[in-house]
Amino acid sequence: MQYGHFDDANREYVITTPHTPYPWINYLGTENFFGLISHTGGGYSFYKDARMRRLTRYRYNNVPTDAGGRCYYINDGGDIWSPSWSPAQTDLDFFEARHGLSYTTITGERGGIRAEMLFLVPLGTNAEIHRIRLTNTTEDQRSFDLFSLAEFNLWNAADDTTNYQRNLNLGEVEVVGSTIYHTTEYRERRNHYAVYGVNADIAGFDSDRESFFGLRGNWTRPEVVANGTSKGSIASGWAPIGSHHLSINLAPGEERDLVFVLGYIENEEDSKWESRGIVNKENATALLATYSTSEAVDRAMTELREYWDALLGQMQVTTADQRIDRLLNVWNPYQCMVTFNMSRSASYFETGLGRGMGFRDSSQDLLGFVHLIPERARERILDVAATQFPDGSAYHQYQPLTKRGNNEVGTGFNDDPLWLIEGTAAYVVETGDLSILDEDVPFDNDIDDSAPLLEHLRRSYQHVLDHRGPHGLPLIGRADWNDCLNLNAFSTTPGESFQTTEHKEGGTAESVFIAGLFVHSANLYAQLLDATGMASEAHEVRAQAAKMSHVVLEHGWDGEWFLRAYDAYGNAVGSSKNEEGQIFIESNGICSMAGIGAETGHTRQAADSVKSLLDTDHGIVLHQPAFTRFHVELGEISTYPPGYKENGSIFCHTNPWMMITEAMLGNGEQAFAYWSKIAPTFREDISDLHRTEPYVYAQTIAGRDAPRHGEAKNSWLTGTAAWNWVAITQYILGVRPEIEGLRIDPQLPRALEAIDVVRRCRGAQYRIHIDNSDTDAATVRVDGEPIEGSVIPYARAGAVVDVTVTT
Ligand code: GLC
Ligand code: GLC
Repeated sequence: MQYGHFDDANREYVITTPHTPYPWINYLGTENFFGLISHTGGGYSFYKDARMRRLTRYRYNNVPTDAGGRCYYINDGGDIWSPSWSPAQTDLDFFEARHGLSYTTITGERGGIRAEMLFLVPLGTNAEIHRIRLTNTTEDQRSFDLFSLAEFNLWNAADDTTNYQRNLNLGEVEVVGSTIYHTTEYRERRNHYAVYGVNADIAGFDSDRESFFGLRGNWTRPEVVANGTSKGSIASGWAPIGSHHLSINLAPGEERDLVFVLGYIENEEDSKWESRGIVNKENATALLATYSTSEAVDRAMTELREYWDALLGQMQVTTADQRIDRLLNVWNPYQCMVTFNMSRSASYFETGLGRGMGFRDSSQDLLGFVHLIPERARERILDVAATQFPDGSAYHQYQPLTKRGNNEVGTGFNDDPLWLIEGTAAYVVETGDLSILDEDVPFDNDIDDSAPLLEHLRRSYQHVLDHRGPHGLPLIGRADWNDCLNLNAFSTTPGESFQTTEHKEGGTAESVFIAGLFVHSANLYAQLLDATGMASEAHEVRAQAAKMSHVVLEHGWDGEWFLRAYDAYGNAVGSSKNEEGQIFIESNGICSMAGIGAETGHTRQAADSVKSLLDTDHGIVLHQPAFTRFHVELGEISTYPPGYKENGSIFCHTNPWMMITEAMLGNGEQAFAYWSKIAPTFREDISDLHRTEPYVYAQTIAGRDAPRHGEAKNSWLTGTAAWNWVAITQYILGVRPEIEGLRIDPQLPRALEAIDVVRRCRGAQYRIHIDNSDTDAATVRVDGEPIEGSVIPYARAGAVVDVTVTT
């Protein structure tokens, strides 16, 4: 069942009912100011950091779900409704929400009044614009009242929901004309305040929550809205809000635009005040003046569209299947950009309070946006690398505002360092910019201890070699990619973190996954060394990779698939001899991608085992059988009920590793089949089961052991976006930047007969036509001439290269 449809021409998802199976959200903002917005206007806004600079309040895990947010109420002669359905929840004659690229429109109509709301954060602006276009669709003169409501967060979102003995005494505002200034803590150490204004005269306002709602009031019928008149309250402590009251009169057919601005204003320390106790409003006034007309909002929308045109123009694909095209041309790159901006901080599943930027996560996210914003990817790599320790290990996370490593989580995830190699290699092949390797980057942000980025990669690589266990496989540390496979934790204390607890210090648990990742990234590292003229070191690195491959085949092969690990007792994890957790996707995917055992047939066999034991109708589960009891020696993985999260869900991040494997083995049919099981656009018609947005990937889909098999959770902020992008564009469509040139090596399902791809790379444009209609040997023609192999040397910037491929 569907709750809307794609509007491909406008690059929007159109939601036609408020009653989706879960709030379906979008993101506003592209630089520093961001908003999360659901299809009924829920969500919140923040400046740069969702925890430390949150402008508006949002209640996670609340009943009813998704209350609050951007609230607008109409009182039409006692009939109270909201154009976005929520918060009033009155039935509408018409409802439509359109989530577009960094903007959302929500239209509601009732009783002959139509309200079309546009929400966006203009480029270069630290504010959200809410434009409301009111139309009288009847033949009669209409008069009604419009009320706005923004509930201010007292900046630090964690404090805001916990430290009431303090924060219920802090709230302050100023109200001047049609503008409400939220100035809590501005009197002391803050140099910023929030502003909420509208470009029209108002009939009244409120800035105190209790006055607005009534102490026992509710979201659907706040006291002020029901009374049809504001109280002019000035918040003093308790909960400051911003609410405007506008009296609207519309002639038959008349249309009127109102522009509300919710912004973040920062002042210099010495110009905080206009006069004693009165905040300096110059910047706020300028912001409000900029967006004082509807035309200014139109211009901002045009600029936003152009911004996305330019980004998405980096790669465009045309196939006969819209589900593929819309995901590749719009939504997958869009989601990758959101992961660039948010990492794992703020979504409807991530509260914005914890989890800074992950070392591993950010490095992988890069694979999905490096072709869109190479300069910012470059900066990201250097930021991530600066949180590496001198011995090559790394902080698992760092804080976005300070860019410092996060001490609470610390280090010891032994796969982390290798992802830096993966991310850097992706950047170099995309851009050709080897100079990044010479950039001087500190260790642990200590400017007195720095080295070129290449040295950071060297230490990443060396860290694995320096930390090997009894079988010669890499030590796992606290965990590898699977945060919940905690082989040294042995935690028995409720509430203790499995990630930071280590009761087996010096534990000897080993990871076959890290071994595979080591071989994969060592090969990339060797290519970078070659490219910088360090052939002998490259040779040595390849020799170590080959050695590790042997160790994997000797000690990491179970007979029909790759083992997952050895636990602290030296027992195999992911072996047919185990009762539970006999086979895992991660090690099979990564070892196969690394080419371990490709020639000896191990890879094919591993892929077949995954297919027969882990594949389901909704994607490939992490492992089987799922754990049904707690295994203290395995950690958090066995804490989830079977089929959820790391305990055997379809953890969508990992599925592309099997797609890539199948494509590398020449089985495009299977690769594509795997993709189409988890690709959101292919799941649109089972939205009632899937539940999260049909336009973005989710982190997990409940596995076959779960009662809710097929139900997705944790949409948006997941490495799934980047890895699926890699799998489908680089391995299935096969358009893959490499050091020497652009490789075109499609591995397609038979059903896709012809594909056109426009790919920009290093300033040149490649117009690629793939003819997949016959089964003859593959040929690649460049500007009409057949070439040897499938790698096209990079053309000069500005060139247009025509490529035809038959498969
Ligand atoms: C989450 C984490 C990621 C980890 C994965 C598996 O997605 O963000 O770092 O690899 O879970 O545990
Ligand atoms: C929890 C989550 C896991 C995530 C980790 C991050 O263990 O289950 O998915 O990666 O926290 O610290």
